[in-house]
Amino acid sequence: KRVAILLSGGGSNMVALADSMTGDHPARPALVLSNRADAGGLQKAAARGIATEVVDHRPHGEDRAAFEEALHAAIMAHEPDIICLAGFMRVLTEGFVSRWQGRMINIHPSLLPKYRGLHTHQRALDAGEAEAGCTVHEVTAALDDGPILGQARVAVLPGDSAETLAARVLEAEHRLYPAVLRRFAAGDRSPLYLP
Ligand code: GRF
Repeated sequence: KRVAILLSGGGSNMVALADSMTGDHPARPALVLSNRADAGGLQKAAARGIATEVVDHRPHGEDRAAFEEALHAAIMAHEPDIICLAGFMRVLTEGFVSRWQGRMINIHPSLLPKYRGLHTHQRALDAGEAEAGCTVHEVTAALDDGPILGQARVAVLPGDSAETLAARVLEAEHRLYPAVLRRFAAGDRSPLYLP
């Protein structure tokens, strides 16, 4: 299986995914694409010999369809079987998502269905949650929704800030996402719950 990873930032999840696809793993990284030319993840991908693409959303203004046409063309040039969203910060419309239904997954830094959207760690702290975590799910047109493929839980510790909690959740993401991708690439969609 050929995997395209879409990111907007540093790409620590991309690194975890890319470095996991070795040996008898059924998938290999075929592309790392970003909507930002300055995304740190692009350098990390290039250092690993992975093809990279940039599709800047800004020239398209509010025309999401035009951006997504450019996005689709750049992706299809690398013929992926699976798309992994990994810190990709653009909302995708039904038009794009429907073409990848069942073949596109995302990691979200909360225990869905709690805390869809942004600022998940601060919201969990404000709510006095005893635990937090991350979720890998199939991407559907509804934001941070779709069938859950895996979750990992972390404790919220006394004195946690959004930053310290985010760092702890990010470590869990780097364990969960590669484990889920390996199963998903082998055709196993049963949910995985890590301790
Ligand atoms: C992180 O906040 C992570 O929780 C979310 O995307 C952001 C960027 O992560 N999934 P990365 O280091 O670019 O993978």
